[in-house]
Amino acid sequence: MRTPIMAGNWKMNCDNDEAWELASAIADEKGDVTGCEVVICPPATALVVVQAVLEGTNIGLGAQNIFWEEKGAYTGELSGPMLLSCGCQYVIIGHSERRGRFGAVADDFTPELQRVFGDTDASVNRKIKAALSYDLTPIVCVGELLSERQQGQTDEVVSGQVKAALAGVEADDAESIILAYEPVWAIGTGEVCDAEEANRVIGVIRATLAEITGEEIAEEIRILYGGSVKPANVAGLMAQPEIDGGLVGGASLQAESFCELIDAAAVSK
Ligand code: PGA
Repeated sequence: MRTPIMAGNWKMNCDNDEAWELASAIADEKGDVTGCEVVICPPATALVVVQAVLEGTNIGLGAQNIFWEEKGAYTGELSGPMLLSCGCQYVIIGHSERRGRFGAVADDFTPELQRVFGDTDASVNRKIKAALSYDLTPIVCVGELLSERQQGQTDEVVSGQVKAALAGVEADDAESIILAYEPVWAIGTGEVCDAEEANRVIGVIRATLAEITGEEIAEEIRILYGGSVKPANVAGLMAQPEIDGGLVGGASLQAESFCELIDAAAVSK
């Protein structure tokens, strides 16, 4: 049995006062949560504040990015040891908002080119290995663009990303990784992927994992869905057998809606 997960990705939201307030409201309601692994991923500036709020609760703390070097002249980057010293147990890696599959460093901020931070399949792979080496649990995002879906390339794109992400990762290490299927066109758009279709693609991801790790380990790996998850659609998503939880942006920024998502996940399996 795979324990469901509800992870909130706050992205670039919440100054430290707001982070304290939001984390406190969630911890007051769900600090003793069982039946669901809950993770909050605030911006890096608020990690220490949220760490203090979550201390002694069942809610985990995650970062939104990691750099693979331990320390040195890497302006603006954060290392595994730094994240550990803020109390992180998880780290999101390869979010579509950080990937730059077009090699775009664009002034041209069309929706599909907004991803200008330059993560590639190769850098995602290095970040995953670094996170694992520090016992941080990677939450690895994969997902197709709208144009790729329209061209019928979804399965190929997603399984290619999974293979590249896990290249050279030992099967035993892979077991602790969490994956998130996040169709890019469904992120922050209010447009949710149909639950059956999300379940199908996650099945493709699990089959790809099985090629890498063997079936037994692939059956243990949690795979989340992300992209406009909200109280109105969470039950339908969580009812799907392959969907093990959610990676949530917008709806994680209100304590009330995030707590509803946690409740739905906790009773879903
Ligand atoms: P959203 O974001 O829930 O606001 O669509 C999801 C994500 O980017 O992880």
